[in-house]
Amino acid sequence: MALRTIRIMGDPVLAKVCKEVKEVSPRTRELINDMFDTMYEANGVGLAAPQVGILKRIVVIDVTGDDPHVLINPEILETSGEQTGQEGCLSLPGKTGVVTRPNYVRAKAYDADMQPYEIEGTELLARAIVHELEHLDGHMYVEKVEGELMNVSSLSDEDDDEDHAENAPISDDAGDAEN
Ligand code: NI
Repeated sequence: MALRTIRIMGDPVLAKVCKEVKEVSPRTRELINDMFDTMYEANGVGLAAPQVGILKRIVVIDVTGDDPHVLINPEILETSGEQTGQEGCLSLPGKTGVVTRPNYVRAKAYDADMQPYEIEGTELLARAIVHELEHLDGHMYVEKVEGELMNVSSLSDEDDDEDHAENAPISDDAGDAEN
């Protein structure tokens, strides 16, 4: 397992538009594996390639811990409904804000074998898809926050392991002994 460094908001790479992937080379496969490792290690539910400094249109998502998706060159086909709730981002650890997103999303993408497929989701999965795809165009959820960004610590009781949102912020360093 290889972890990559997660870029933090303010890093110019997070504001750039990513390039389409033409083929999945061995290096691309390695990147995808590393993105999953990095996302799981940080207790996130989604990660986009620019968050590890790579300007390619690749996203990984797993909102349950047991439902991994790779989205290469993803495009949203359909959205409906609305959900308003807290969202966070691994590139802005310790913060959360309220964002309104569609409650249903259907998208097309290519998988790690460059086979086209469609993915659809509601609630957290829908939120994650929209959030991660915005990273590929250089956008962060903070642009859409309603009200103020908040500190996660001021909202949670002690050290709960609850995922606050979409990309759960990194929890404190001390509690990972059992993983
Ligand atoms: Ni994010």
